[in-house]
Amino acid sequence: MNPPLHVEVVQKSQSRANKDYIKELVHSFLVNFVSLCPGASITEADLEDNLELKEHVQMITFCDIEHDTEVLVTEADLIYHIYKLDSFGAETDTMTDTSTGEEFAAADMWALPSKEFHGLWESLIYDTKLKEDTVRFVETAFDFADKGVDPNIIGWNRVVLLHGPPGTGKTSLCRALAQKLSVRLSDRFPRARLVEINAHGLFSKWFAESGKLVARLFERLEEIVADRRLLACVLVDEVESLAHARRAALSGLEPSDSIRAVNALLTQLDRLRRRPNALVLTTSNVTGAIDVAFVDRADIKRRVGPPSARAAYEILRGCCGELMARGVLAPREPVFELRVLEGSRFADSESSRASLRLWDVARDAAAARLSGRALRRLPFLARALQLRGAAPPDLLRFVAGLRAALRDHLADAAELDDAAPPVS
Ligand SMILES: Nc1ncnc2c1ncn2[C@@H]1O[C@H](COP(=O)(O)OP(=O)(O)OP(=O)(O)O)[C@@H](O)[C@H]1O
Ligand SMILES: [Mg+2]
Repeated sequence: MNPPLHVEVVQKSQSRANKDYIKELVHSFLVNFVSLCPGASITEADLEDNLELKEHVQMITFCDIEHDTEVLVTEADLIYHIYKLDSFGAETDTMTDTSTGEEFAAADMWALPSKEFHGLWESLIYDTKLKEDTVRFVETAFDFADKGVDPNIIGWNRVVLLHGPPGTGKTSLCRALAQKLSVRLSDRFPRARLVEINAHGLFSKWFAESGKLVARLFERLEEIVADRRLLACVLVDEVESLAHARRAALSGLEPSDSIRAVNALLTQLDRLRRRPNALVLTTSNVTGAIDVAFVDRADIKRRVGPPSARAAYEILRGCCGELMARGVLAPREPVFELRVLEGSRFADSESSRASLRLWDVARDAAAARLSGRALRRLPFLARALQLRGAAPPDLLRFVAGLRAALRDHLADAAELDDAAPPVS
């Protein structure tokens, strides 16, 4: 039997229809298709002819987790997820250091699924099964929790650690994962929250009250997780900053109270991970062993690296598509999928030329181990610095601009490396 195809349907915020009605509406629309392409989306613009659907539905996405190729509608087991996006945005939990009166952001909180993270999952491109594996790990962990599997007998938990070099999408993947779970697990958890703890801010300077602040923060978190029907995703970014703070305290650089604050945070996180509705997400730039005992407990540890040539090509292809859709590049023309280029054995023709040049840029970027963040900046740099003039450039000129932007970026990076003090 085929694995199910998850169909994610964003209901318009003003629509008052119930989920079953929307499901029926979408289903009768999809049965007209021969096949569905995992990872693809149907937007409002594609629904022009279907007024009823257009009134209620903003977007339909076929989730790309279990399938690599097109799925025949007659053979597909379609699972529908109907949801509305929360447009409220982040609520920042500020705290005041009573000794200095200084205010700082201790945590940001979102109700999920949030408008802010819509499309984030699809925008992240890895050519390993990183995204798919991470979702499966976490779904299995929640399933084990549901069934009451004893973690002393089978080692499993709901602590995720994503580690790897800067700018490779670790924080974005944690947010996207929380959003994805809030959609996928909505039967079990009708409500979901993402809480990002600003660990770096909490310990980057000495706060006389750090320990108390941590306690207060977790009191609030406890209130949130007390609702068993709420999925609580807690993200601690750059978790190695906890280890730094602890080391500094141990070496006498920080007052010893701060070690208590760090330990308090770790103990609280440890307590939190035992709650059946909590998921702890952590990220780190340190690729070796992270000296925080808590992180040792993560069962789901994945290294996130810079994009390969394939992934870099897909990212840049998406960027070109976006700029053409917005009229920054003109005219609109297709950028071929890599498998199409491969199918034609990279044959050069007028229609494939720009795509082939883009593939060269992607390969050079991957060879230089350019991060996803740097890659996503290249189109902007190309337009701003390489292609002066008001008229929108065509695709071929733009790709030449991208190549020049990459060359400049690498030259700048090399200069910075030269300027860095020698490692002793
Ligand atoms: N593999 C990727 N596919 C698509 N976009 C990517 C990828 N990697 C990074 N990006 C983009 O780069 C930007 C930075 O990502 P993010 O902040 O999540 O990285 P990070 O690994 O958390 O970085 P840091 O270690 O500096 O905190 C985001 O806009 C993200 O979309
Ligand atoms: Mg990050």
